[in-house]
Amino acid sequence: MKVFIQNGHLVDPRQGIDGICDIYIEGGRIQKVRKKKNPAVRSARLPGYRVIDAAGMYVLPGLIDLHVHLREPGYEYKETIRTGTEAAARGGFTAVCCMPNTRPVNDNASVTEFILSRARNEGTCTVLPIGAISKGQKGEELAEFTLMHEAGCVAFSDDGRPVMDSLLMRRALEYSRVHDLPIISHCEDLALAGGGVMNEGLLSVTLGLRGIPAQAEEIMVSRDISLAELTGGRLHIAHVSTAGSVAAVRAAKKRGLAAVTAETCPHYFSITEEAVREYDANAKVNPPLRRKTDVEAIREGLLDGTIDVIATDHAPHHRDEKEGEFDLAPSGISGLETAVGLAMKLVANGMLSMTTLVEKMAVNPARIVGSGGGTVAPGTDADLVIIDPRREYRVDAEKFASKGRNTPFGGWVLPAVPVATIWKGKVYSWE
Ligand code: DOR
Repeated sequence: MKVFIQNGHLVDPRQGIDGICDIYIEGGRIQKVRKKKNPAVRSARLPGYRVIDAAGMYVLPGLIDLHVHLREPGYEYKETIRTGTEAAARGGFTAVCCMPNTRPVNDNASVTEFILSRARNEGTCTVLPIGAISKGQKGEELAEFTLMHEAGCVAFSDDGRPVMDSLLMRRALEYSRVHDLPIISHCEDLALAGGGVMNEGLLSVTLGLRGIPAQAEEIMVSRDISLAELTGGRLHIAHVSTAGSVAAVRAAKKRGLAAVTAETCPHYFSITEEAVREYDANAKVNPPLRRKTDVEAIREGLLDGTIDVIATDHAPHHRDEKEGEFDLAPSGISGLETAVGLAMKLVANGMLSMTTLVEKMAVNPARIVGSGGGTVAPGTDADLVIIDPRREYRVDAEKFASKGRNTPFGGWVLPAVPVATIWKGKVYSWE
């Protein structure tokens, strides 16, 4: 199908474009991008094209989420590849990287192939699997990096669990060099975390809940940076939640460690531990929500380039699991369908520019996993998102495409919403 997007405000830092453009799409690829001084008054009539008038809207390269749990195989009651990729398309994403903590764990080529075949048949965005670092994510023995890489994995991670054994992490970083793929580290010192369920501090004491100190994350961030220095391997720090982690990554980058990158998630720059005050398990997440000073440090880290990526850590869980006791509820937030709105809140408050948003949610993720995308340059896959900054969006989890309704943002009014996502030239819109 041929598609013509006219009058939209294209923000494409890779091409140095930040202005009104017309975009022609044919055969699933970008055919032509034409800059304009002013939007046309009337919609064009282009025979053979589906015309989308994006006047007053942003047109961005399709967003790429480095950190998503699609739950299939094994936990289809929480999410499937079909519902997870639908949620992604709704959220403005044209590609998602899926974590290996499925059942069975994605620690071998056959699981990777299964995920990719499901995605081919049922997916509404590109699925880029992440293979496990260790067999069964047990932290004992390295998984088969080469076979998983050949099957299509774009990175390795034991996310959901840390690699506690420093020697194993060293080997993972060494082997990852062979394929030039990143090791994505879930930084958590399990012993120090001590089975905690929220941030450690006055509030955890008040609520009578076991706390997880910031240092449980920061010690591992520092360890992994040291190991990246030792090995020359590529390290990507997942879900940064504390000021100390931001400082450690900043210092590493200052020392010239170009192979270290980091991500944070919308919940860490939007809300604090106060969200769990009423024992709301929808705000239970790992690492936990922290203090105001951490939120500020994370925003600062996004601004000064310390944090390269905004990823969702989309972690859908079943309502029954989240409605039980806070202590026992699984950690995670269903994040795909609120990420753009929460990031646009930073834009609306003048804390982030649209260019920086595109860098954190499309350009840098593409560079880190080497996936292609992150631009609407002619000849590339036609992956785009159209965002209407004039339309507020009230979060209603019951309307999520994701099976996971677990969000602490229910009822929030967010300043903008994706109105269409175009994946390989196919238009998904909710008008
Ligand atoms: O909150 C989280 N949920 N953090 C993780 O690291 C794993 C994830 C999950 O798989 O539910």
